[in-house]
Amino acid sequence: MPDANATLKLGNEEKSFPVLSGSVGPDVIDIRKLYAETGAFTYDPGFTSTGSCQSAITYIDGEEGVLLHRGYPIDQLAEQSTFPEVAYLLVNGELPSKDELDQFTYTISRHTMLHEQLANFYRGFRRDAHPMAIMCGVVGALSAFYHDSTDITDPKQRMIASHRLIAKMPTIAAMAYKYTVGQPFMYPDNSLSYTGNFLRMTFGVPAEPYEVNPVIERAMRRIFILHADHEQNASTSTVRLAGSSGANPFACIAAGIACLWGPAHGGANEAALNMLREIGRPERIPEYIARAKDKDDPFRLMGFGHRVYKNFDPRAKVMKATAAEVLKELGKSDPVLDTAQELEQLALQDEYFIEKKLYPNVDFYSGVILNAIGFPTDMFTALFALARTVGWVAQWNEMISDPEQKIGRPRQLYVGEPQRDYVPVEQR
Ligand code: ACO
Repeated sequence: MPDANATLKLGNEEKSFPVLSGSVGPDVIDIRKLYAETGAFTYDPGFTSTGSCQSAITYIDGEEGVLLHRGYPIDQLAEQSTFPEVAYLLVNGELPSKDELDQFTYTISRHTMLHEQLANFYRGFRRDAHPMAIMCGVVGALSAFYHDSTDITDPKQRMIASHRLIAKMPTIAAMAYKYTVGQPFMYPDNSLSYTGNFLRMTFGVPAEPYEVNPVIERAMRRIFILHADHEQNASTSTVRLAGSSGANPFACIAAGIACLWGPAHGGANEAALNMLREIGRPERIPEYIARAKDKDDPFRLMGFGHRVYKNFDPRAKVMKATAAEVLKELGKSDPVLDTAQELEQLALQDEYFIEKKLYPNVDFYSGVILNAIGFPTDMFTALFALARTVGWVAQWNEMISDPEQKIGRPRQLYVGEPQRDYVPVEQR
């Protein structure tokens, strides 16, 4: 039942549309009948004022800097939970009991290996291929290897595909890394945690045992949890849009990976680290802040600002603490971290950033951490894709089970030529 109505006056006609209220957050005006009743569409490039679906997974209050997964604050999950537990929560809606978590962790561990034939697929890539290029290709190709979980009308197959995707992403990402550095692929070790297994597959070699450093393992776990889901962002909307046509889950997640690759989305942590390296030392910060404020200079402070957060990104706070922890553990003093901390402080006191509500986002410190752990910059987005797969899978499942779901098909404001007659080439 609608809670209220909104009235739209178009010409001399007034039409009323239901206003719907969620459990928390802004109301939405239900305009599904707008075109049928008025013959007009809405115009909203970038979907800044458009809710595309109902969802019970993630809630963000950008003004207050709040991020909740199934109601639980992100900082509590990052501090106290594990990645498989957060995955269970996102996909199933509730925190698991001990037995449920054990069963889920066991199920995920049974799916960590890749079909052996997929190793040949990797070998078709150039050694200098970007890991995201490999990830797009390999994840899309899973649909050619796991035919028994591509029938989206069967809930059991949907769940098997979901488990496979969550379980295989660390293996796929680690193999992409190993391939580009020319080292042998490492098979998963299911006795390790989700994160520990990933670290071993990435940095271990078959020639010697690999010991997982608990501080690095905790930092990675936090990074994975902080990236697990973020409501209807560009890549998640891409997954939903691809899925709305009935495409199989592996193809949908491959589409999400493609979208995430862009520098305005998943590529921003790489850009932030590059910027911090370019700044080099704290004395040069004012010059870069001045450039970021200059209307005639396209330069922006990477890792600052967010479409939704107009306050501190709650994930950035956890990242900042984790960066300091990792560098301490590794006994490294990194001028990049000093530059980041100083830049944050100066920008937050600057009128331009205060007025435009530009705060550090999740990407500002994550690059510093990943760099200290030893990941090359082009792996950063691949790690983001690994973690976000959980959110994509949860959102995809929610969409498929939603009786109101339809194929996604936006309309447009057409500004091209009206109808005209074809002219044969010799008469043009
Ligand atoms: N540095 C300097 N100025 C900025 C910055 C920045 N990082 N971000 C926004 N602004 C300014 C814009 O110039 C604009 O100024 P104006 O009103 O005078 O024209 C104003 O703030 C609003 O910016 P928009 O680009 O309109 O805001 P939008 O919501 O579209 O953009 C975005 C958000 C893309 C994240 C932007 O802040 C940005 O480019 N940041 C840097 C890239 C980045 O860190 N991206 C990561 C996002 S988080 C993620 O994907 C996980």
